[in-house]
This record gives sequence, structure tokens and C-alpha cells, in this order.
Amino acid sequence: MDQQILQIDSADWHVSHPNQTWISALEAGKLLYFPKLTFKLTPEERRFLTPAVLDPKSRNISLNADGELKGALGDAAEQVALAEMVGRFRMQAQDLIASLLPAYSEIVRLAPTSFRPMQVETRAQSWRADDKRMHVDAFPSRPNYGERILRVFANLNPDGEARVWRVGEPFEDVAKRFLPKAKAYSRWQAQVLKALHITKSLRSEYDHLMLQLHDGMKSDLAYQSNGPQVTMPFAAGSVWVCFSDQTPHAVMSGQYMMEQTLHLPPTKQYDPSASPLAILTRLTGRNLI
Ligand code: SIN
Ligand code: FE
Repeated sequence: MDQQILQIDSADWHVSHPNQTWISALEAGKLLYFPKLTFKLTPEERRFLTPAVLDPKSRNISLNADGELKGALGDAAEQVALAEMVGRFRMQAQDLIASLLPAYSEIVRLAPTSFRPMQVETRAQSWRADDKRMHVDAFPSRPNYGERILRVFANLNPDGEARVWRVGEPFEDVAKRFLPKAKAYSRWQAQVLKALHITKSLRSEYDHLMLQLHDGMKSDLAYQSNGPQVTMPFAAGSVWVCFSDQTPHAVMSGQYMMEQTLHLPPTKQYDPSASPLAILTRLTGRNLI
């Protein structure tokens, strides 16, 4: 299981040489861990390392693609400084991905950048929303038709506290385990969900199956405790990257993290046959979108 994580010793956000081994590993659903790569805060920015910056109504602080900051408390000057900090992480995360995966630079679509100042262990959530249970990312209200979810994470903890994850088995193994238990797709139900605005667009069979895998994993307590997995402490001052729609993951503890999501079409990957859409299409023998 240790092979699910590949360590890269770059201390620079601009990786000097793209490396096919790393590209293939990432597209195979492995997680790339950069223990020496640090998102640096200025001394003034350290004041933002407190849960008090978060509006209690929000889960995270986020910076939209158009530069709008959401979820933060504080006066105008503080909001500008916070947006500048989150924006700098966005630039560095984009630089990392562009240098690591040059073919992605033209095709990625930027999602909001988020700063998560809350202590993970204190969050109480329903089982379905609980990211302490191992899962692959899939979103009930936003069908994505196989579009990839590539994420860059940085642990900013000032007290040396790791962000501890569990990382699970390869996606194809997850799919083979949980597809037989998945409820059948109903186009009629998908149309009702759309008409009621529960989904923003028609939920495709791909989106349905991804949610079934997500829920199947999270609701299976035996799988949560005994399924193939490794516990992985991401050190304070480190960075990691994975396709979170493909790499089973759970967050167990930690506080203060940056996260950047980038979306890309699965057909534009280096190896399109490695995508969850391609794997699920192959395993079901059906066109899923
Ligand atoms: C998740 O993506 O499931 C949570 C990641 C984290 O908060 O570390
Ligand atoms: Fe997740």
C-alpha cells in the first residue's frame, strides 16, 4: 500500500523537470507528497492562523476565480491581506501543476482556492459529509460528467502539527468492490432531482456511480477500519497533490490547510484510459455520460 504515495524532494514550486514517472503515478491515482515544499507566510500573515478569521456561518474561507473572498471575518484591510495570502497560494499551486504536468496548463479550469483554519477533529458531521471516513470525492448537487478533480494541499500549521490522512487502495479495486452493491441508475430520478434543483444539471450515470462509491465506502464501517489503507502524516510545511475523485482519502486530524482544486477533461489527460470515467465505463461496459 505504501506504493500509493510517491515522495518528491523538490523544495521549489516550479519543479525543474517534468518526470513521466510522476505524471503516470498521479494519473494512476497515486498521491504525490512534497515533504520539502512549503507555502511560506509573511510574519504579518501569521495572525490569520486562528479559527477566529472564519465566519461561523462558513466551513472554509474561499477565494473565487474572480478574486472575491468569502467566509472571512475582519475589516476591509484584513480581508485584502487574507485574499493576497490565499491568492499567492493559488499562483504557487498553479505553477506547481504547470511545471509538473505541462500538458495540463492549457486545459485546467480553476476552482475557488480555500483556506481551512478549523481543527479537523472537532467537526461533527453526518456520515455522508464526514471526510474522516475514507472516500473518493463526488458531489451530490454538481454533476461533472467525468471532469477530473485535481487538488493541491499545503499544511500551514505553525506548531509543527501534521495533517493526518488515510490513503486507500487503487480506484479500480474500489470500483470492483463497490460497483456490485451500487443502486441502479434511474434517468427518471435524475430528471426529478434536476427539476427540483437538487442537482444543478442532469445527474449522469457516471455521477450516480461516483456517489454510490462515495456513499458505499463511507457507510461501510468494516471497510473503513479494515480496508486497504495507510495512515499518512503530512508534515507542517509540506505539500501534497492527488486526483481526489480517484485516490481514496480520509482526514483524521490537523489544522490550517490551503487547498486548490483544478478541473480538467479526462480526455485531455496524458493517459485518458486511467481516469475514473474510463475505468467505470470499462467495468460496466456502458456509456456513462
Ligand atoms: C477531503 O478532501 O476529504 C478533506 C481533506 C482535508 O481536509 O484534509
Ligand atoms: Fe475528500
